[in-house]
Amino acid sequence: MEIFRDSVLCFLLFLVILPPSIAQLSPSETRILFQIQQILEYLEALQGWKNWTSFCYLHQSPYLVIVCSENHITEFSLVGNRTSPSQSHIPPKPTSGNLFVSQETLPDKFFIGSFFKVLTKLSNFKVLSLVSLGLWGQLPATINRLKSLEKLNISSNFISGEIPGSISVLTNLTSLVLADNLFNGSVPDMKSLQSLQEIDLSINRLGLEFPSMSTNLATIKLKNNSLRSGIPSEIKDFDLLQRFDVSGNKLVCPIPSPLFSLPSIQYLNLDDNQFNGALSLNLSCSVNLTFVNISRNFLIREIICLHWIKRQQSNCTEFMELSDKWRFGISTPVFLLSERSIGGYSLEYESRGAV
Ligand SMILES: *[C@@H]1O[C@H](CO)[C@@H](O)[C@H](O)[C@H]1NC(C)=O
Ligand SMILES: *[C@@H]1O[C@H](CO)[C@@H](O)[C@H](O)[C@H]1NC(C)=O
Ligand SMILES: *[C@@H]1O[C@H](CO)[C@@H](O)[C@H](O)[C@H]1NC(C)=O
Ligand SMILES: *[C@@H]1O[C@H](CO)[C@@H](O)[C@H](O)[C@H]1NC(C)=O
Ligand SMILES: *[C@@H]1O[C@H](CO)[C@@H](O)[C@H](O)[C@H]1NC(C)=O
Ligand SMILES: *[C@@H]1O[C@H](CO)[C@@H](O)[C@H](O)[C@H]1NC(C)=O
Ligand SMILES: *[C@@H]1O[C@H](CO)[C@@H](O)[C@H](O)[C@H]1NC(C)=O
Ligand SMILES: *[C@@H]1O[C@H](CO)[C@@H](O)[C@H](O)[C@H]1NC(C)=O
Ligand SMILES: *[C@@H]1O[C@H](CO)[C@@H](O)[C@H](O)[C@H]1NC(C)=O
Ligand SMILES: *[C@@H]1O[C@H](CO)[C@@H](O)[C@H](O)[C@H]1NC(C)=O
Repeated sequence: MEIFRDSVLCFLLFLVILPPSIAQLSPSETRILFQIQQILEYLEALQGWKNWTSFCYLHQSPYLVIVCSENHITEFSLVGNRTSPSQSHIPPKPTSGNLFVSQETLPDKFFIGSFFKVLTKLSNFKVLSLVSLGLWGQLPATINRLKSLEKLNISSNFISGEIPGSISVLTNLTSLVLADNLFNGSVPDMKSLQSLQEIDLSINRLGLEFPSMSTNLATIKLKNNSLRSGIPSEIKDFDLLQRFDVSGNKLVCPIPSPLFSLPSIQYLNLDDNQFNGALSLNLSCSVNLTFVNISRNFLIREIICLHWIKRQQSNCTEFMELSDKWRFGISTPVFLLSERSIGGYSLEYESRGAV
C-alpha cells in the first residue's frame, strides 16, 4: 500500500515537473541545427551543442534564443561578436564575384547561398535574427521560402548587393531590420507588406528613389544611405507613423509639410540631406511631435510650430534643433529654440547668420 501510494506520488510529481507539451525536435530539424553550427564555424554560443542537447529547452541568453512550437523551431535568434561594416577598420576587399571578405567576416569558403538553403528548410520560422555573425554575400531570393516569417533581423553583417524583390511576398512580416550591411541598388517595392510595422534599412548604400512602403508603418529608419529623391507626397497617408529617420542621405526638394502634422508622429530626423525651399512659418505640428532635427539642409526659411509655443507653458521639454551649421553658409535666418521663459512663453529664438 505504502509502495503504491509512493509510486502514485512519484507519478504525479513527474507530471508536475514535465513541461506541458514535450517539444522534441524532429531528427531532421536537429540535423539542420548541427549544419548551422558547422557553417558558422562553431561560434561560441553554439559550441555546447551535443547529440543529446534538447534544443527546445536550452538556456536562453542574449546571444542565442531557440523557441519551439509543436516540434518545430519557430524562433532562432543568434547574435555574434563580429564587427559590422560601420565599425570595421579593415576595408573589405572584393573577392570572387565582387563579394567582400575580410578578417572580420566569415572566411572565403562560407557561401551564403548554402547557408540559407539549410535555413529555409526550417520553414516554420516566425522570428529569425542573425546579427553580427560576419555573414557576407548576397541575400538569396529563396528567403521567400520562410513564409511564416514575422520578424527578420540580419543587421550588422556584410551582406551586399540588392535586397531581393522576393521579400515582398513575406506578407506576415511585422519587422524587417537589414541595418548596417552593404546593401546597394534600389529598394524593392514593399507596399505588399501590409503587416509591416517597422523597417530599418539604415547604414547601407541604398539609392536612389525613396522606397515604396505600406502606409501602416510606425517606424521608418533609412538613415545613412544614398537616397537622392524627394519624399513622396504619399507620406501624408502614413497615419500610424511615429518615428521617421532619413538623416544622412541626399534627399532633395522641399520637405512635405504634412510630415509634421501626421497624427501619430513623434520623432523626425531629416538632418544632413539636401532638402531645399521654404517651410511655412505656421506649420501645424502634431501634438506628440517632440523631436525634430532639420539641420544641415538647404532650407531657406525658419519653421515654428505655433502650438509648441503654447505647450511650453505646460511641462513639456520639447526638443527641436535647427542647427546653426547650415551648409555653404547660405544666407538663412536660423532659429534656435530653447526653454528660457519670455512673457509666459518658454521659448526663445535667436537669429543667426545673414538674413
Ligand atoms: C551524433 O551522433 C552521430 C551518430 O548517431 C555521430 O556520427 C555524430 O558524430 C554525433 N555528433 C555529435 C556532435 O556528437
Ligand atoms: C569573439 O569571441 C571569440 C571567443 O570568445 C574571441 O576569440 C574573438 O576574439 C571575439 N571576436 C571579437 C571581434 O571580439
Ligand atoms: C500569416 O498570419 C496569419 C494570421 O496570423 C496566419 O493565419 C497565417 O497562417 C500566417 N501565414 C503563414 C504562411 O504562416
Ligand atoms: C536586431 O538585433 C540587434 C542585435 O541583437 C538588436 O540590438 C536590435 O534591437 C534588433 N532589432 C529589432 C527590431 O529587433
Ligand atoms: C552593388 O554592388 C555590387 C558589388 O557588390 C556591384 O557589382 C553592383 O554594380 C552594385 N549595384 C549598384 C546598383 O550600385
Ligand atoms: C551617418 O551619417 C552621419 C552624417 O549624416 C555621419 O556623421 C555618421 O558617421 C554616419 N554613421 C555611420 C555609422 O556611417
Ligand atoms: C499622444 O501620446 C499620448 C501618450 O503617449 C497618447 O495617449 C495619444 O494617443 C497620442 N496622440 C496621438 C494623436 O497619437
Ligand atoms: C498663421 O496662422 C494663423 C491662423 O492659423 C493666421 O492668423 C496667421 O496669419 C498665420 N501667419 C502666417 C505668417 O502665415
Ligand atoms: C541634429 O543634427 C545636428 C547636425 O547633424 C547634430 O549635430 C545633432 O547632434 C543632432 N541632434 C540630435 C539630438 O541628434
Ligand atoms: C516636469 O517634467 C519633469 C521632467 O520630466 C518632471 O520631473 C517633473 O515632475 C514635471 N513637473 C510637473 C509639475 O509635472
